[in-house]
Amino acid sequence: MIEIRQLRKVYPARGGGREVVAVDGVDLDVGAGEIYGVLGRSGAGKSTLIRCVNLLERPTSGSVVVDGQNMTALNARQLRAARRRIGMVFQHFNLLSSRTVAGNVALPLEIAGVPRRERIRRVGELLELVGLSEKGRAYPAQLSGGQRQRVAIARALAGRPRVLLSDEATSALDSQTTAEILDLLRDLSRQLGLTILLITHELEVVKRICDSAAVMAAGKILESGRVADLLARPDSALARAAFPLDGTGREGSHVVDVVVRGAQADQPLVATLARRFDLDVNILSASVRTIGGQTVGRLRLELPGRGTANTTAALAYLAENGLIVGDGPTTDVSQVLADDQPVPEEAGRVESRVAPTGPEVDG
Ligand SMILES: Nc1ncnc2c1ncn2[C@@H]1O[C@H](COP(=O)(O)OP(=O)(O)OP(=O)(O)O)[C@@H](O)[C@H]1O
Ligand SMILES: [Mg+2]
Repeated sequence: MIEIRQLRKVYPARGGGREVVAVDGVDLDVGAGEIYGVLGRSGAGKSTLIRCVNLLERPTSGSVVVDGQNMTALNARQLRAARRRIGMVFQHFNLLSSRTVAGNVALPLEIAGVPRRERIRRVGELLELVGLSEKGRAYPAQLSGGQRQRVAIARALAGRPRVLLSDEATSALDSQTTAEILDLLRDLSRQLGLTILLITHELEVVKRICDSAAVMAAGKILESGRVADLLARPDSALARAAFPLDGTGREGSHVVDVVVRGAQADQPLVATLARRFDLDVNILSASVRTIGGQTVGRLRLELPGRGTANTTAALAYLAENGLIVGDGPTTDVSQVLADDQPVPEEAGRVESRVAPTGPEVDG
């Protein structure tokens, strides 16, 4: 649905300063109906990237294709039409304080010349979609942050877009409200077949709703893919940060990180190891999540007796079944999200590099 190829955006030098390469050769593919999150720290180039998708920023080079249309090749009239098929929501909602909730949602319909009666019907529909049917006559100042973002989402959906862009839509909200808005976005995506590209600095956003994700730093994509696939990749810094495993085990034991997916997650892995190999397997930590309807878990297991025949056989069994992602704590903390960042001294730091909000407990 969205294909970005070799995208670059360079802001020219101004007032004696240097030019800024905000987006530096980005490739990104967002499938239809998918929720795709781009995660990165402040200044990574996330807003610039997402603004290049609907050409609020014109790329310096590269191409952006949305729903089969090459955005950079459109003339002004075509671009206005294309933008109507792309909704956008922002961190600070951008509502008009002088208009009621209904008036804000109606605005894009007025601009598009939708007749009054049809407009009223559509606004009612949209407010119901975001759970604000009772608030049509209220003014933005009378609403909570979460309710304001719902209004902004309703407004963004007015033109029945196929794509929704979200620039930090939940960053101004507390964690409970963030969860509610994220769940709303996921429901809307499923219900309307809406493709959502969102940018965020919060790991929780990726964990809660994203089917796919990319990590961005200094204008570049460092890693990307389906979240469930990233979880199974030993080198994924995102998986490590978002689905952390800790615990070092006892002296003389063998610690191994495994990933279980889909049907595998329903198998009693620990019991199987115990039975087949006569081992007392200890779960040091686990991070389990439902992603795109599939259960995916990363587990850190402690097998007793490093190098013993039973433990060696159990490791071979795990490897044969493609379950091993890492060798426990020895490799787990050595990766960082960006090459230009120093290697962290302890595990907790890895996470704070992705999310300035700091480490969080997996729920
Ligand atoms: N209009 C502009 N003119 C010049 N430089 C800009 C402009 N917009 C952004 N930049 C620069 O481009 C870089 C990327 O900025 P961008 O806003 O895309 O980052 P971001 O990842 O969205 O950060 P944040 O999380 O703080 O919103 C930064 O160095 C920023 O200063
Ligand atoms: Mg930004």
